[in-house]
Amino acid sequence: MEQPSRDSATAVATVDLQRLPQHVAIIMDGNGRWAQAQGHLRTLGHREGSHAVRRIVRASRRLGVKALTLFAFSEQNWLRPGHEVAALMELLREYLVTERDELVDNGIRLRAVGRVDRLPPSVRDVLEPLMRDTAHLDGMTLTLALSYGGREEILDATRRLAERVLAGELAADAIDEALFEAHVPSVDVGRVDLLVRTGGEQRISNFLLWGAAYAELHFTERLWPDFDESDLYEAVRAYQGRERRFGRVEPRPYEPVEVRE
Ligand code: IPE
Ligand code: IPE
Ligand code: MG
Repeated sequence: MEQPSRDSATAVATVDLQRLPQHVAIIMDGNGRWAQAQGHLRTLGHREGSHAVRRIVRASRRLGVKALTLFAFSEQNWLRPGHEVAALMELLREYLVTERDELVDNGIRLRAVGRVDRLPPSVRDVLEPLMRDTAHLDGMTLTLALSYGGREEILDATRRLAERVLAGELAADAIDEALFEAHVPSVDVGRVDLLVRTGGEQRISNFLLWGAAYAELHFTERLWPDFDESDLYEAVRAYQGRERRFGRVEPRPYEPVEVRE
């Protein structure tokens, strides 16, 4: 796969600020391989990965992206060895504690999607107050996908809707795309425009299955701990080179069609 330029000044100059993706989502992959390639334990890669999170949150805010969703821990990642899960939870807690001021000062609203009730109290105790305290901020929305799975999110939405139907609040045939989507929290900030995966794998791994239905996909070999501003700009530039059609064809002049998803 082609490796992007590492010159961030050149890369940002080629980004069209008028046509930014509104919602960028990232599958932050490759921490373990980054560490192992240098003879270190996988957990060191997760620590380096948390520095990359800081970098990319800051760069996205500066660029003007309105929503950034980061896949930090999947529902399936609970199946990793206990010590790795514990290290990830500790890093998450550290991140939330140390970034608090930076998020607030930069007007960043923090949200979490996923089965957050599965997270240990040590994480929830810092996550919940931070979400409350930043709920009014509108510079950018940072969503952390934690204990998240796209299928699980769709199942949870289906259950909530089924309960409403059973309670007689809703007719089954009133469930349309818009109503269903209103029960899918990861798209509260809009559907995904650009989905990036680092680490070389070309798969979705149960990330935003609903919201990414028409996302532009960008895969890079760069391992997440090495992902920097220039890689982000490169991904945005690639997005800007795509033609989004949403299943349509070019409208003819005498058939004006508003091309929107
Ligand atoms: C991504 O890096 C972080 C999480 C999934 C939590 P990995 O830990 O998956 O790293 P690789 O893919 O094994 O290199
Ligand atoms: C996806 O990466 C999950 C996160 C980045 C949090 P994984 O490393 O868990 O995905 P697979 O196992 O390669 O599909
Ligand atoms: Mg991985």
